[in-house]
Amino acid sequence: MDSALRSLLDWYASVGVDVPNVPPARVSRPKKKPLPVQNNLSPATSKPIAEVPSSRLVAPELSKIRTLEALKEAMNAYDAGVLSDTARQPVFARGNPQAKLMVIGEAPGREEDLQGKPFIGPAGQLLDRMLGAIALGEDDFYATNVINWRLPKNRNPTPDDLATCRPFLEKHIELAQPKVLLLIGGISMTAMTGLTGIMKNHGEWQNVTIAGTTYPALPLYHPAFLLRRPELKKDAWRDLLSLREKLLTL
Ligand code: URA
Repeated sequence: MDSALRSLLDWYASVGVDVPNVPPARVSRPKKKPLPVQNNLSPATSKPIAEVPSSRLVAPELSKIRTLEALKEAMNAYDAGVLSDTARQPVFARGNPQAKLMVIGEAPGREEDLQGKPFIGPAGQLLDRMLGAIALGEDDFYATNVINWRLPKNRNPTPDDLATCRPFLEKHIELAQPKVLLLIGGISMTAMTGLTGIMKNHGEWQNVTIAGTTYPALPLYHPAFLLRRPELKKDAWRDLLSLREKLLTL
């Protein structure tokens, strides 16, 4: 059995959905790929945070940007201060920009920083399985993060970090024009709605207004959190079913 199917069945089993008894998957180890060749982005430096002058940050001029490609280029060219110093590259998006569903996560981790794509590490793999369980493949969603650069030592984002990335995120949503936002984890939920406490707000539909358009937005447990708290997968499953219902009405 193909390992994607096996992991989808494992997800179903973990949320209590009956699945047929299937033999264990044969594990084939992926060949190690060489690290991607660095492009013309500046290499990560080990400069201490305090030495980076905040005056380097200038508000990005995004009003003339009309395409996602142009937005990506603007981010590649942008000096995001401490974020650019420690990250290898900005992490833009993954999936189908025409999809109804836009997934908004927290911040890139190590794998995402290396490959320049969001949600490709262990949490991303679980997210794919969760979305796969409601029949959404990579063509059915478009994913990005509230923070586009890997944070120093993977720390939580500060209000300054969020403010640095916010204009890019708003432009990103405005250009992609999704029908629904899926807010992955508490940091994304708070950044987009102002609500705090993912335990009490997950699965509760919210309205988020960006550039004059109001989007239905669903906070969901972060898959990294579910990896530590698998007993919460049942709640996440209910939230995913609510997402599926919503998508069917649009
Ligand atoms: N990877 C991402 O791109 N975002 C997250 O929130 C977690 C992992």
